[in-house]
Amino acid sequence: MRRVSHFLIWVIFTLSSSFSDSITEREILLKFKDNIIEDPYNTLVSWVSIEDEDLCNSFNGVFCNPEGFVDKIVLWNTSLAGTLTPALSGLTSLRVLTLFGNRFTGNLPLDYLKLQTLWKINVSSNALSGLIPEFIGDLPNLRFLDLSKNGFFGEIPSSLFKFCFKTKFVSLSHNNLSGSIPKSIVNCNDLIGFDFSYNVITGLLPRICDIPVLEFVSVRRNVLSGDVFEEIPKCKGLSHIDIGSNAFDGVVSLEVLGFKNMTYFNVSRNKFIGEIGEIVDCSESLEFLDASSNVLSGNVPNGITGCKSLKLLDLESNRLNGSVPVGIGTMEKLSVIRLGDNFIDGMLPQELGNLEYLQVLNLHNLNLIGEIPEDISNCRLLLELDVSGNALEGEIPKNLLNLTNLEILDLHRNRINGSIPPNLGNLSRIQFLDLSENLLSGPIPFSLGNLNRLTRFNVSYNNLSGVIPKIQASGASSFSNNPFLCGDPLETPCNALRTGSRSRKTKALSTSVIIVIVAAAVILVGICLVLVLNLRARKRRKKRSEEEIVTFDTTTTTMASTESGNGGVTFGKLVLFSKSLPSKYEDWEAGTKALLDKDNIIGIGSVGTVYRAYFEGGVSIAVKKLETLGRIESQEEFEQEIGRLGGLSHPNLASFQGYYFSSTMQLILSEFVPNGSLYGNLHPRIFPRTSSSSSSSHGNTELNWHRRFQIALGTAKALSFLHNDCKPAILHLNVKSTNILLDERYEAKLSDYGLEKFLPVLNSFGLTKFHNAVGYIAPELAQSLRVSDKCDVYSYGVVLLELVTGRKPVESPSANEVLILRDHVRDLLETGSASDCFDRRLRGFEENELIQVMKLGLFCTTENPLKRPSMAEVVQILELIRNGMDS
Ligand SMILES: *[C@@H]1O[C@H](CO)[C@@H](O)[C@H](O)[C@H]1NC(C)=O
Ligand SMILES: *[C@@H]1O[C@H](CO)[C@@H](O)[C@H](O)[C@H]1NC(C)=O
Ligand SMILES: *[C@@H]1O[C@H](CO)[C@@H](O)[C@H](O)[C@H]1NC(C)=O
Ligand SMILES: *[C@@H]1O[C@H](CO)[C@@H](O)[C@H](O)[C@H]1NC(C)=O
Ligand SMILES: *[C@@H]1O[C@H](CO)[C@@H](O)[C@H](O)[C@H]1NC(C)=O
Ligand SMILES: *[C@@H]1O[C@H](CO)[C@@H](O)[C@H](O)[C@H]1NC(C)=O
Ligand SMILES: *[C@@H]1O[C@H](CO)[C@@H](O)[C@H](O)[C@H]1NC(C)=O
Ligand SMILES: *[C@@H]1O[C@H](CO)[C@@H](O)[C@H](O)[C@H]1NC(C)=O
Ligand SMILES: *[C@@H]1O[C@H](CO)[C@@H](O)[C@H](O)[C@H]1NC(C)=O
Repeated sequence: MRRVSHFLIWVIFTLSSSFSDSITEREILLKFKDNIIEDPYNTLVSWVSIEDEDLCNSFNGVFCNPEGFVDKIVLWNTSLAGTLTPALSGLTSLRVLTLFGNRFTGNLPLDYLKLQTLWKINVSSNALSGLIPEFIGDLPNLRFLDLSKNGFFGEIPSSLFKFCFKTKFVSLSHNNLSGSIPKSIVNCNDLIGFDFSYNVITGLLPRICDIPVLEFVSVRRNVLSGDVFEEIPKCKGLSHIDIGSNAFDGVVSLEVLGFKNMTYFNVSRNKFIGEIGEIVDCSESLEFLDASSNVLSGNVPNGITGCKSLKLLDLESNRLNGSVPVGIGTMEKLSVIRLGDNFIDGMLPQELGNLEYLQVLNLHNLNLIGEIPEDISNCRLLLELDVSGNALEGEIPKNLLNLTNLEILDLHRNRINGSIPPNLGNLSRIQFLDLSENLLSGPIPFSLGNLNRLTRFNVSYNNLSGVIPKIQASGASSFSNNPFLCGDPLETPCNALRTGSRSRKTKALSTSVIIVIVAAAVILVGICLVLVLNLRARKRRKKRSEEEIVTFDTTTTTMASTESGNGGVTFGKLVLFSKSLPSKYEDWEAGTKALLDKDNIIGIGSVGTVYRAYFEGGVSIAVKKLETLGRIESQEEFEQEIGRLGGLSHPNLASFQGYYFSSTMQLILSEFVPNGSLYGNLHPRIFPRTSSSSSSSHGNTELNWHRRFQIALGTAKALSFLHNDCKPAILHLNVKSTNILLDERYEAKLSDYGLEKFLPVLNSFGLTKFHNAVGYIAPELAQSLRVSDKCDVYSYGVVLLELVTGRKPVESPSANEVLILRDHVRDLLETGSASDCFDRRLRGFEENELIQVMKLGLFCTTENPLKRPSMAEVVQILELIRNGMDS
């Protein structure tokens, strides 16, 4: 019965449609409404069954043709939820179906094949899913198709473009489509544009330039590959091409920029290689040029200055050299310039000041020299000025206060001297202010306290002096390593520094360099100390005399000592291996009080606390105060051990420079390495910052992949040296990222080697208590104390994984969850999704190289020690990986 009645309705409907039967269309629309389960804005209240109202005029979002048939349904941004009723296929004149910005689920019903009049379908931004319906390819009149921002998956059916001779625009972007782009797309003779961006489409780009009228192409963020610049130069009519974030390779052809209508050109984040080439001809319409994050080399093309309409120039993260192009100041429309992370050198051109629309100038990590031009203050609209990581000198321009819109000012890591201009405090919109690692001196202006939008402030590593004003978003680390700063939040109280005349103050400070020797809080007076200086490295006096011993009688000096109780005399012996250290006794002895002071702690290791000691003339050394002597039983043994280590020299080892021994205190002196530990660089503390204006380039961009690889290689060489070139071999047994220090060029300097005798006596209790290297210890060492060079290989392997993933060896993402890095990476690699664990901060790397290093990391952390490679083999493998990249 039911079947029959349905059939009858259908017959009546088809027969009667030519009689303007609007009642039936009303019923169809009410069925559409019936399928809606949520209508939060009551959009469909006007869709009612009262028959005397003309639906063409009363139904919200419904439009009719002159004959009175529904020809458009336009309901957008109305958050309707529900499914699309198949009944809609009864609207025989429907031309436009626009439903973007709703929450429709399910798929487009097959019945819609009957909507042969359909001219435009826009169901963008819904929750539709399933395969892309093939019947759409059979709709003969379709001009515009937009299925973007839904959950469609599977391949794009080839039949979608079967009869698309009239289609003008297709968007399938932001779905989950896989497979390749069907070759049949070239059937679409009238296609002006297509947008397949943000899917997981693979394969090659078909011969799209066979489509004569193509203007707009976006395939951004897919997995397409191949040499596209064989094809693209044939599309002379292109105005917008976005092939960013794919795996395309080959050489970019800038000839395309000369196409008359070209306005937007984005090839960023691919694997394009080779010289960027010159720009001979540039379109009058070109506004956006983004070729960032590829492997392009050669000079920044000077012909770029021919692109008179260019608004955005982004060539960041390539291998470009040469200088900032002459004539850039004539490109009047420029508003964004990003050239950072290249090898560009030369000066910052004065003419940048001519760019009155400039909003972003980002030239970080180049080799720029000279001064920051005063004229930059003419760029009144500037929001971001980042010239960090160069070799700029001179002072901060005094007229930056004219940049009233500035939000980001990043000058860190340069050689800027002079003082901080107080009028920086007038830059009231500033959010990010980093002046660290320069040569700034003088006080910190109190006016900076006015900057109430700051989310990041850093002036560390300068020579600033005086009282620290109260500044938003700052902490002790914002001010650290300015020896003459005092007050909160540093622990140096100001009155201590301010007593005495200026000259005395300087002297007191410069000589307070020291090593001294306060262990507990016991202070005392009148103890004499005899220091024995062994200036072994200085061959100034008698030739080859074994050891010259200079003894100082210091009866007038007061010293603090733990042996205070009995008022006895403490004898200490100081031995220096290095010529470059001060040898004058006063330099070492001087500050009888301040010494190994909490402010100067730079690390706490398994065998002791490490301090930085400063000397006059800018020399620093690291001083490790031993907490335990481990298995060392006598002074002779101590001296023998350290003496042996002092003789080692390798570019990737932090060298030992001497020691101090007394009955109450033992110090090991070693090279001071300025850029901190690998751990500190990989896992920086997170600063709160606003999301709006800041780009990711303000994270720790210092550790790019090239540097990380160098660090891996350097560390491997150091370990290989210890294992193979030292007789007897030296085992490290405490390899971890906190023991890998980074010098000013971010090369690795392994520290803490050869101290295994100093480690607390190894037993399983000792391991857990002292050996704070959780996650790095080889299983056989942890379980049965079986010591071999392969223990180092294991720990080294964990460091490799840390370098690739940016994660700590053991993390606890939530309370009950523990993530062991090695196991995590292994799992991901096995499921073929290795790239999921790459450090997200890495850019512009060779994926294959990361995967190989990751595999090496897993190889090194094999359970069975015999199966791990030796360190010498690791070095060879890394060099192979490296050469694979160069060729
Ligand atoms: C639709 O809503 C979204 C989000 O609420 C908004 O971004 C968009 O501009 C709206 N579209 C139109 C055409 O109003
Ligand atoms: C579909 O609607 C969205 C939202 O307004 C719009 O951006 C898009 O251009 C439309 N697609 C077509 C093909 O008209
Ligand atoms: C996309 O599809 C893949 C499998 O084809 C699936 O694993 C993944 O969850 C999908 N992603 C989304 C966002 O639907
Ligand atoms: C450029 O655009 C204009 C106007 O849209 C058009 O007439 C012309 O044919 C286009 N040029 C090319 C080379 O396609
Ligand atoms: C170019 O595409 C990338 C993604 O591939 C995007 O992040 C970037 O903003 C685009 N550049 C421009 C100028 O739109
Ligand atoms: C720039 O790099 C290219 C190749 O990458 C090289 O041939 C050229 O000598 C370099 N130029 C300068 C000035 O370093
Ligand atoms: C800075 O602005 C002031 C007034 O706003 C103006 O007098 C001065 O000339 C400007 N300085 C520069 C270098 O442009
Ligand atoms: C800053 O450095 C420049 C050269 O780099 C030098 O000429 C100038 O005197 C220095 N200024 C100060 C205040 O030290
Ligand atoms: C800079 O700020 C100070 C006080 O914060 C104010 O007195 C001065 O007028 C400001 N200068 C300019 C040029 O706005």
